[in-house]
Amino acid sequence: MYKMRNLLQLCGLFLLLSTAYGSFNLYLNEHETMRLLGLSAELYYVREGLINKYALQFTVPVAANIKDISFTWQSLAGKALPYRINIATSDPIVLPRPSLNISRIGEMPQEIETFALDMKCSGVRSSEVDITISIEVTLNRETNNVTELVFTRKKICLQSEVTEDSTDSTTLFTTIPKRPNAVITFIVGGILAMIVVAVFISIAYCARGPAKRKPHLSQPVRTSSFQRLQTHSSSLAPSICPTNATLPRSKCSEPEELHRRISEITVQRCRVRLSSLLQEGTFGRVYRGTYNETQDVIVKTVGQQASQMQVSLLLQEGMNLYGACHVGILSVFGVSIEDHTAPFLLYAADNNTKNLKVFLQEPIARTLTTIQIVKMSSQLASAVCHLHAHGVLHKDIATRNCVIDDDLSVKMTDNSLSRDLFPQDYHCLGDRENRPIKWLSLEALSKKQFSEASDAWAFGVLIWELCTLAKQPYIDIDAFEMENYLRDGYRLAQPLNCPDELFTIMAYCWAVSILERPTFQQLQFCLQDFYNQLTRYV
Ligand SMILES: *[C@@H]1O[C@H](CO)[C@@H](O)[C@H](O)[C@H]1NC(C)=O
Ligand SMILES: *[C@@H]1O[C@H](CO)[C@@H](O)[C@H](O)[C@H]1NC(C)=O
Repeated sequence: MYKMRNLLQLCGLFLLLSTAYGSFNLYLNEHETMRLLGLSAELYYVREGLINKYALQFTVPVAANIKDISFTWQSLAGKALPYRINIATSDPIVLPRPSLNISRIGEMPQEIETFALDMKCSGVRSSEVDITISIEVTLNRETNNVTELVFTRKKICLQSEVTEDSTDSTTLFTTIPKRPNAVITFIVGGILAMIVVAVFISIAYCARGPAKRKPHLSQPVRTSSFQRLQTHSSSLAPSICPTNATLPRSKCSEPEELHRRISEITVQRCRVRLSSLLQEGTFGRVYRGTYNETQDVIVKTVGQQASQMQVSLLLQEGMNLYGACHVGILSVFGVSIEDHTAPFLLYAADNNTKNLKVFLQEPIARTLTTIQIVKMSSQLASAVCHLHAHGVLHKDIATRNCVIDDDLSVKMTDNSLSRDLFPQDYHCLGDRENRPIKWLSLEALSKKQFSEASDAWAFGVLIWELCTLAKQPYIDIDAFEMENYLRDGYRLAQPLNCPDELFTIMAYCWAVSILERPTFQQLQFCLQDFYNQLTRYV
């Protein structure tokens, strides 16, 4: 928790905290206080926007037989209030990441809502596990007024042979003799809890009276103001290109521009040698080869059966990043179109360069460390930053459109042939257009609106792919359902072993409002900062 705050503070950009203003209630309802603490009362953490710091400071013990805890809340601001919830446990082996029955990012409704945190002990051993629940509520989007509340719970987990459903009373009693200390701790904790609760319930009760807003009860958690990050291009990775090289700004979809680009880089077919087939789709082919006997290249082409449409799509998409000169971008450097043959698109790439998605999914059990994932994300963020600085949107950011070397350095590339080589990643929603639905932001999905912010959304999904070794995102969700699913506030879940810091960055990429999503400069800065933190001690 501390580290995450630290990170966000250092990043100092998208998370802004401020005094409790706007208005909402957050409390334990009577049922819950009775169950947890044996008290018949509501226990307010936030009442009409005022934070009860005494209540928050208190670590509530959770007995072994209680496997879920609930909170109740209600927005009083006249509208639903956006929130994010993050949960961390001190011992994921004994208590794996608890789940919530509401989305981790969503909106606090105007009606009273109770949500529960499901805590299943693994039963591996007996232990007390600290759970930290942090809830951020955005009171005002315009001023970025955010309140952060941190709750701590001490969950008692008992060792058990039965790992599933080990929480019923029979198992509890049979396991008690093994670990009497835990039970005693709970009883002592429980008594302490009651005393503390009694104290702050009476305080809360007094506070309800005429002197409603007792200043000492209201605790501004943290205050800061929004600062836009002042990094400029000097912080970008050094470019290997001459300084006058820039990306052509005009759209490649215009035929004259496409022809101009192609004529600039046309090479003779006889200078290209194909050595091995790397990937094959229904019509698309990717080969390894050489150009001019010396330059190792990757060649994208199509088979004889490809239609004219598929050929022109290859050329058009392949030329999209043409001229992008950046260490983190692999763009086409040569093209050969000779009569009656399919075009060859050449990319300068070492012998060991591979498609990133293919690499991640290779059967040899490969695991990337957090450090490696953060470093790769940072390299790619810097590449997209370069594109955006030149007015170019990528529009199809995903691991399938990246390459990786043996030394794990990654590059962003164009999406030509991806529809054919990774058909499971693209879907048609009624229209003829085959789109990367699960990587699209809400506005790109529903209104076909693309912007730097829609690239940021896809980038969040890309980081998720890195963490999961390129699993299919939202595997259970039908492409047709995606828009409603996202609108309902659901997002990709935090992958196992993905640190909160990284998940927080992803989650920001998936903000509904495009203004709340980070720019690539901010992403690059945050990722670099997190990388520095991770490597400081190794
Ligand atoms: C979550 O679960 C709790 C307890 O099981 C229940 O009271 C609550 O209504 C549920 N909330 C939602 C939003 O499903
Ligand atoms: C938070 O919002 C309230 C009004 O909603 C405003 O008075 C207060 O100054 C804001 N705080 C910050 C730090 O912006």
